[in-house]
Amino acid sequence: MLKIAVCVSGGGTNLQALIDGVQNGLITNTRIVRVISNNRNAYALERAKQAGVDAVCVSPRDYDDRGQFNQALLKAVDEAEPDLIVLAGFLVVVPPELIRKYENRIVNIHPSLIPSFCGTGYYGLKVHEAALARGVKVTGATVHFVDEGTDTGPIIMQKPVAVQEGDTPETLQRRVMEEAEWVILPESIHLIANGRVQVTDGHVKISG
Ligand code: GRF
Repeated sequence: MLKIAVCVSGGGTNLQALIDGVQNGLITNTRIVRVISNNRNAYALERAKQAGVDAVCVSPRDYDDRGQFNQALLKAVDEAEPDLIVLAGFLVVVPPELIRKYENRIVNIHPSLIPSFCGTGYYGLKVHEAALARGVKVTGATVHFVDEGTDTGPIIMQKPVAVQEGDTPETLQRRVMEEAEWVILPESIHLIANGRVQVTDGHVKISG
């Protein structure tokens, strides 16, 4: 059984896709052991509670400096003893000590086809604003392992989504979530939970 801890900051629709996937059997061999939010008002915390999943808030506001916050975050993760950490809309720079401790055991969902529109400053609606500003015809989402760079880790799965005439950042964001994020995040977790994802020399191979 793969025990996952899910880190969130906002609405938690990707968390919901994971909760639903575990419930309806799309994701097998997996248990969500804890949800951690840096934002106490995140609706994601409510979703966790409704699903009966342990949910905690670790807010930087409750600590004197970043170092103390990072330690508290690490503690909240370690306590849950996860096999895998899922960043599902987690708007926090993940502490390097966490990344080192959980090498190839942290996954992130990014709302573009990496390496387009990713890296520092590309989060939330900004990603979709940039895609529209460039005039791309296709965008999408990427699930990847987290390394010490920003959006640079091994890519697990990607799914393209067509940009439509008249799209706004908001309509594009919604379509990317519906057609790509809520599909490939649960699928990736299912594959990992069933031992089908291997990382070799920074590249992911999916077997079976
Ligand atoms: C998603 O677009 C995700 O890709 C991103 O932040 C958003 C989170 O949405 N990095 P939600 O909280 O899962 O609804």
